[in-house]
Amino acid sequence: MNVLILGSGGREHALSWKIARSPLLKKLFIAPGNSGTSELGTNVDMNPGDFASIVEFIRDFAIDLIVVGPEDPLVNGLHDFIRQEPFFKNIVIVGPAKAGAKLEGSKEFAKEFMTRYGIPTARYASFTRDELTDGKAYIETMKPPYVLKADGLAAGKGVLIMTDLDNTLDELEAMLDGKFGIASSKVVVEEFLKGVELSVFVLTDGESYHILPEAKDYKRIGEGDTGLNTGGMGAVSPVPFADDEFMKKVVDRVIEPTISGLKDQGIPYEGFIFFGLINVDGNPFVIEYNVRMGDPEAEVVIPRIESDLLELMSKMGSPEFANCQIKFDKRAATTVMMVSGGYPEAYEKEKEITGLDNVDDSIIFHAGAKLSDGKVLSSGGRVLAVTSLADQWPDALKNSYKNAEKIRFDKMYYRRDIGFDL
Ligand code: AMP
Ligand code: GLY
Repeated sequence: MNVLILGSGGREHALSWKIARSPLLKKLFIAPGNSGTSELGTNVDMNPGDFASIVEFIRDFAIDLIVVGPEDPLVNGLHDFIRQEPFFKNIVIVGPAKAGAKLEGSKEFAKEFMTRYGIPTARYASFTRDELTDGKAYIETMKPPYVLKADGLAAGKGVLIMTDLDNTLDELEAMLDGKFGIASSKVVVEEFLKGVELSVFVLTDGESYHILPEAKDYKRIGEGDTGLNTGGMGAVSPVPFADDEFMKKVVDRVIEPTISGLKDQGIPYEGFIFFGLINVDGNPFVIEYNVRMGDPEAEVVIPRIESDLLELMSKMGSPEFANCQIKFDKRAATTVMMVSGGYPEAYEKEKEITGLDNVDDSIIFHAGAKLSDGKVLSSGGRVLAVTSLADQWPDALKNSYKNAEKIRFDKMYYRRDIGFDL
């Protein structure tokens, strides 16, 4: 099969690393990819938002299967755009059409969906600019901390959690006045849930699904989960508290009603569903849906999949998909993200990365890194993910840290406390 992966992060490197191992693979292309993916396939200088060029590429290079890494192209209708061409009827697209991508693209849609199908989530109401007075009155009925969420995609910045009532009321007004552009023309106000978060993933073709290993992501920049939110500073899989009893609740209360709810609404769905969950006193609640794999969760989940992921993906949409057996590596995986100094605020790029050849017992997934004249240079905020596997997660983590120490680039930073709360 000829495969095209869209995206350029550690997640896309991990997907490429796995798919490149499949005997079914003929040619692998990654658009735009990074210095890591260029060793596994051909990087293509094409933006995942450039739908017309993508369609042309699919035709020219006889692509059989596309994996869409990030959410933006899905929310903007890439899947639908490709399917318009009758010629592409049989292509497998891992990533839902626009209607399904609304699970991530609109928080209000996601909340309505969960409410309709009885999926546990925080109590909420949503407001537009015309309903500002009602919105403020609603906030006044709640207890702090207050949670405000821009309805649409806001590059991971659209969620505000605040303790001061007056500030919250002002923020609601600022959001509705366009603080996050059109993304906050509607705002979801919701109850704060207290618990430990984890991420659960399925690969589904809308009819049946396979559950992938769960993971826990460390989102804050500072040790002890302090400071600004980032895309994710590290991850572990499995998650110790996600035992059989907890996971059964996740299946019965969250996964099953989500899949059957999509069917009930006539929304076809092919791709990953990422359930952002919080464990409240042993019960799973949904914080958010994403319509893609997580990053850096992919860097620990994908290495734990023993089965041929490309084969599994290729069966999506056929009855055989349901019968596929998927096997996992029982070992634990950890990843530590090495980031540019200053991230998640302004940071410097183009720093030479050295020491990559000295790494042993870890897999380095490249994220914001590129090749230039034979050198690897940083090109983004999150630069490398250092993934390790071992029988016990503390041993895996030791390896990740041992190898992170061998890598150097100017002003690099990583958290030294991944897994601190487990
Ligand atoms: P989201 O963009 O929806 O993932 O939200 C970003 C982060 O805000 C989540 O990962 C949680 O840590 C936090 N968060 C969102 N909603 C809630 C909530 N209702 N209660 C507590 N924390 C929340
Ligand atoms: N690591 C969180 C995410 O991918 O959304």
